[in-house]
Amino acid sequence: MKNIFLIGFMGTGKSTIAECLAKDYGMERIEMDQELAERERMSISEIFETYGEAYFRDAETRLLIEIQSEKNKVVSCGGGVVLRDQNLIEMKKGGVAVLLCAKPETILERVRDNDDRPLLRGNMNVEYITDMLDQRWPKYEQAADLIVHTDGKAVEEICREIIKLIGEMGE
Ligand code: S3P
Repeated sequence: MKNIFLIGFMGTGKSTIAECLAKDYGMERIEMDQELAERERMSISEIFETYGEAYFRDAETRLLIEIQSEKNKVVSCGGGVVLRDQNLIEMKKGGVAVLLCAKPETILERVRDNDDRPLLRGNMNVEYITDMLDQRWPKYEQAADLIVHTDGKAVEEICREIIKLIGEMGE
């Protein structure tokens, strides 16, 4: 199986779906944010505060380049991975990019109690999330090989849908 890169806005369920795909389909899971935090020995917020966003984005791209040379991985990407064109090229080399979507209200519910999302700090409201999502949407669409809507669906159902769609692509 090619690598599956789960992309999408913060709180669209990438980590949860990656966990389920790993369990049900015997794939190895990579949590990009977790890996980056472990490598830097600090939280994502601390990386942003200490070194700035550009540093984080560079580290993110380096990690993607490493991952794309491997196989049978399900990768939960950071929500901003689509912002760099080079990242899109890296993902396409060895994998399929699956975009997870959710309504801003659903996203807010999922992110509101987590303070390790520096880009949402002080902006935990539907209006801000909607604006940021709208701004990024062209990038998400451009990056996506497949789009999966998650609102109102069970985790296993979403995983089955992803595997079916990838199968239909002939991957
Ligand atoms: C970001 C999303 C976060 C994390 C960082 C930046 C973004 O990942 O990489 O805070 O720019 O959307 P999650 O999507 O896993 O929350």
